[in-house]
Amino acid sequence: MVIEVVPLPLPPSADPTKLAGFGVEVKGVKVASLTDEELGQIQELLYKHDVLLFRNCDLSPEQQYALAKVVELLHGVEAHVFVSLMLSAAAYSVQVFDPMTEHYGHGNNKIGKNSILNPLLTTIPGVPQVQLIGNGTIYNHEGIAEAQLKHPSHKTFHKTHVSAEDEAAGVTRFNRWHMDAALYELSPPKVTALYALRVPQGPPQVCRYDDGTGDELQVPPAATAFVSGKTMFEVLPPELKSVAVRTKVRYAPHPFVWMSTAGAVPTGLGLESDGLEMPYEKLPPWDEASVKTYPVLWKNPVTEALHLQAHPCAVSELIISPLPQGSPRKDALYPDGAYIKDLKTVRDLLYKLQRPGIAPSLVYPHDWRDKDLVVFHNRGVMHSVTGALTSDQVRVYHQCNLAASDEPVGPSDADIKEWA
Ligand SMILES: [Fe+2]
Repeated sequence: MVIEVVPLPLPPSADPTKLAGFGVEVKGVKVASLTDEELGQIQELLYKHDVLLFRNCDLSPEQQYALAKVVELLHGVEAHVFVSLMLSAAAYSVQVFDPMTEHYGHGNNKIGKNSILNPLLTTIPGVPQVQLIGNGTIYNHEGIAEAQLKHPSHKTFHKTHVSAEDEAAGVTRFNRWHMDAALYELSPPKVTALYALRVPQGPPQVCRYDDGTGDELQVPPAATAFVSGKTMFEVLPPELKSVAVRTKVRYAPHPFVWMSTAGAVPTGLGLESDGLEMPYEKLPPWDEASVKTYPVLWKNPVTEALHLQAHPCAVSELIISPLPQGSPRKDALYPDGAYIKDLKTVRDLLYKLQRPGIAPSLVYPHDWRDKDLVVFHNRGVMHSVTGALTSDQVRVYHQCNLAASDEPVGPSDADIKEWA
């Protein structure tokens, strides 16, 4: 079959000049039985377009795991031809796998009871790499007799909330802008596969940014909002591009426990700095070697574009390198570099780098249909849950991502020279 690629339908709020090429629907393939050639093409498409949509898929949890695993493994770029050949016979076998990539992105069954993710994820028995997420009560699902699913609400994560009156009128917020990653011990997954078995129905809602800008965005109920990390970098002015290309972020140990006692800002793009994070000595035991420090910009292994990828709620410190020799110092921020540990300063600077990239015109809110499979380049996009659901609005999704066997690659010396 010939693979056909169709741009995703952009909402009227989107700027098509900025979102051109971001996200495609892939037609003409059966995701449960891809050929080697199709897999190779899908790998290319994923890195070029960042979000791939497959409609009307029938996919078991085992097949979803296998798909995420195969696409993940194919992304070992230097070795991708070799890996592709090696895996060709085993594409849909869960028995043959790289032991380094068998774990769900947050670890199999390792999410601590204090983690903010704990109430949101239910592991599928027998396939611990696949999580059941959604809303409402469901019965007899993939070996689970009964599950109470809860759609993440900004009311349990943000410091301030939309009033009950506004919520009744359809006003909501982005929950939390992030990539899927434990950001401690395990490497960020390269790909996430999100499969909708049951999509809630209801009128559109409005995500209000509530940050003094007046920005807002109409979204379908419980839409997943995506932004491009590449565009997030591209829209920055030169002085912030220079900071981005020179900066590394250090994440807190057990960041999802650390942030559990703090409140997020109204855009869902970071935490308020009220000193409420869990003190390090109260966190589960941790070791320095497992703490993650990553460049702010991650290099796309196929297009070589730089994607701004940082989980703003989990960051604790910024390490900024000095300008390279010969770079003009005029208007440069932190020309001599800096090690910023004050959380408010850290977050203010990160917000300046990331907020332009979530402008309403740059957001693609996916309007889910039953049996949609969205496979996204988790090292190239940021995403957020949106909306509020009532208990009778049932939402059933399977989510799969795998901790990678390598770390993201940052900007090259040539990139730093170009952008610093
Ligand atoms: Fe996510």
